[in-house]
Order: sequence, then structure tokens, then C-alpha cells
Amino acid sequence: MTSAFVPPVYPYDRLDRAREAASILPGGVVDLSIGTPTDPPPEVALAALAGLDAGGRPADESGAARGYPPSIGSQELRLAIQHWTKSRLGAGIPLDAVAVCVGTKEFVATTPQWMKLRYPGRDTVLYPAVSYPTYEMGARLAGLRPVAVPLDSTWRMDLSAISSDDASRALMLWVNSPGNPSGALDDLGAAAAWGRSAGVPVFSDECYAEFTWDGPPQTILGHGGGPDGIDGVVAVHSVSKRSNMAGMRVGWYAGDGDLVTYLREVRKHAGFMVPGPVQRAAAAVLADQGHVEVQRDRYWKRLLRCQAILARLGPTPDLPAGGFYLWSPAPAGDEWAWTDWLAAKGGVLVSPGSFYGPGGAGYVRLAMVAGLDRLDLVASRLGV
Ligand SMILES: Cc1ncc(COP(=O)(O)O)c(C=O)c1O
Repeated sequence: MTSAFVPPVYPYDRLDRAREAASILPGGVVDLSIGTPTDPPPEVALAALAGLDAGGRPADESGAARGYPPSIGSQELRLAIQHWTKSRLGAGIPLDAVAVCVGTKEFVATTPQWMKLRYPGRDTVLYPAVSYPTYEMGARLAGLRPVAVPLDSTWRMDLSAISSDDASRALMLWVNSPGNPSGALDDLGAAAAWGRSAGVPVFSDECYAEFTWDGPPQTILGHGGGPDGIDGVVAVHSVSKRSNMAGMRVGWYAGDGDLVTYLREVRKHAGFMVPGPVQRAAAAVLADQGHVEVQRDRYWKRLLRCQAILARLGPTPDLPAGGFYLWSPAPAGDEWAWTDWLAAKGGVLVSPGSFYGPGGAGYVRLAMVAGLDRLDLVASRLGV
């Protein structure tokens, strides 16, 4: 008999006790637990939302806010994505190979069920063993089998550890680079090659690409098969992190022609749509790189500041190769005790590493979403 699905407690709800302890300190909680941007979105986004053109004049009557927006994304936004993919990631892709989603969390959580409908003989979703929890949850929500791929000592997937049985049952492999929570850069070429030889589509979550510190941003596009290098691979992106637009909910997926065509048709039937003004705002921010440089500078300075604070208290965390998290070993390997201590004494809320899989135990994750003034407050509370 199969048992009824009961949603597990949402990981961040398990931080309520620590949050309460941090909140009572003068100055309140410094919340580094969730990777939600708190810096302002660029002006161009707000102007586009308000229906203004780049010069601040009312844009022509496109009806963007009135009618149903195109589920696959407006031509304007898809062209902006195509152009950004070429100029920033160096990958040329046909316009038909691009479609939008309502932020990538939605895409990560729902795609397994559409893949199951397409390949009913398969039942498995492969994902990195220490990773963003929605990869596993998407499999569970579709009634599928989540199978964690072990990581090596540098937090990259050990693809050789995937059994031939799991590979033959797999609907998809998720890869995430720069990776949340570890900040590691995975080998996207190796992931694409594994997928090709195993006959498994590879979905590459690249939402932190702009915050790559070791070298230029990377994409799986170009590493797949076919003349454009996109056969068998799909890259997943969003402006949530790049442009501080998490509240506007817009992302996209691009790659394998057959998969993108299939997914965009299914998603059209299911009614996934990004509001028209938000699509315009996303197109506007993709044409602007200046604000991304400002944000990169903010995150890097905060990473250095936080690393220095933690180094005075316990093991020094490595700086990440990408992303805006510090993945920090907890003293004595007890991530819950360390989370509680940091909350009670420093008023700072962090995430225990086990939120990202059992292999994350012994670590905590700190998101660089508070300003330097707030990090200074934490340092002074802790006397370091
Ligand atoms: C690895 C990863 N993928 C996807 C997302 C979801 O981002 P969004 O839905 O805002 O595009 C997040 C958010 O934290 C993330 O860390």
C-alpha cells in the first residue's frame, strides 16, 4: 500500500527558535539564513515596471499589463536572454530554444512531473547530494525517486558513483554551478558528457553564474550534442540573484530544442505566465551590466568581512569559487549548536548545513544578504 504524501516541515521554519533568540538583542536579528537579495533592484527595472522607457517617458501602449502575457515569454525578453547568453556566457542559441518561467524554483519543483509524463518508463531524478533542497522536493512532488549523487571532497558531483540501474531509470540529472550551498564550480562539460553517454537529459541550474569569482561565468550550453552544443542539455537562469529581483519572479530555461519545445507547450497548458510588466523589467535589466558589477562588489566585500569574523571564532571558512554564500565548518562539527550559539550571542541567523542534505552536516551556510554595517554589528556583539 502506498502512503499519503505529507509535506515535510519547510527547512527555514525550523529556525524559529534561533530567530527568536537573535531578535531580542538590541538592533535585532541579522538574517543570513536565506539567500534572498535585500539590495535594491536597478532603476531600469523599476522604470520598466512602471511602464516607462529607458528615457523615463511613458512607453508605447503595448498592453503588457492588460492582457494575458505569453507563457513562453515575450519576443523582447527572449531576444534579451539570447543576447545576454551570447555576450556574457559565450553561447549562441536559437530563439526557439529559450522560454521563461516564474522564477527558477517553480521550474525546479515542477519539471520532474512533466518529464515523467514524457518518459513514463522512467522514475528517477538525480541531483547533487548536498544541494538546494528543491531538486529533491521536485522529485517527491511528482511521486518519483530522488537519488542523491555523492560529492567528492571538493563538493563536485562524482558521476562515476551513479549506478547503471539509476542511470537507466533517470529522467534527468541536475547540476548546480556555482553551487548552493558550497560555492563550488562543477565540471559542466563532464556532466553533459555523462548525460550524452547515459541518454539522460542534464539540467544545469546556473542562477549564480554572474557571481563567479574564479574565472568567467560558465554554462552547460555549448557542451551538449548537435551543431549548437545544446542537444541533451538545458540551462536554467534567473534575474532573482543577478539583479535583486527575487520578488518579481522571473527566470528562464534554454537548451535542447525538443525538450524546450515540449516543456513550453506543457507549461502553456498549465497556465504558467510571468506578468507582462515583469517581463519588460527582466528584458531591461539584462541589457545592463553596470548594476551587476556593483552587486558583485558588495557580495565580495561581505564575503571577506564574514570570513574574517568567523576566523576569529573557529575554523576559517574558504572563500567560495562562486555564489554569495560562505560554507563554513562548525566547531566540533555540530552545526545546530553553532547555529544556536551564533544566534544567541551574535544575533545572526545562519542555516545548518543539514538543510542541504545529510552530507552538509557539520557546516553552516551564511548568505551575504546583509550590509557591512550589519556585519559590523554582529562582530561587535561577538567582541571580535
Ligand atoms: C540553486 C538555486 N536554484 C534556484 C533558486 C531559486 O531562485 P528563483 O526562483 O528566485 O529564480 C535558488 C534560490 O535560492 C537557488 O539557490
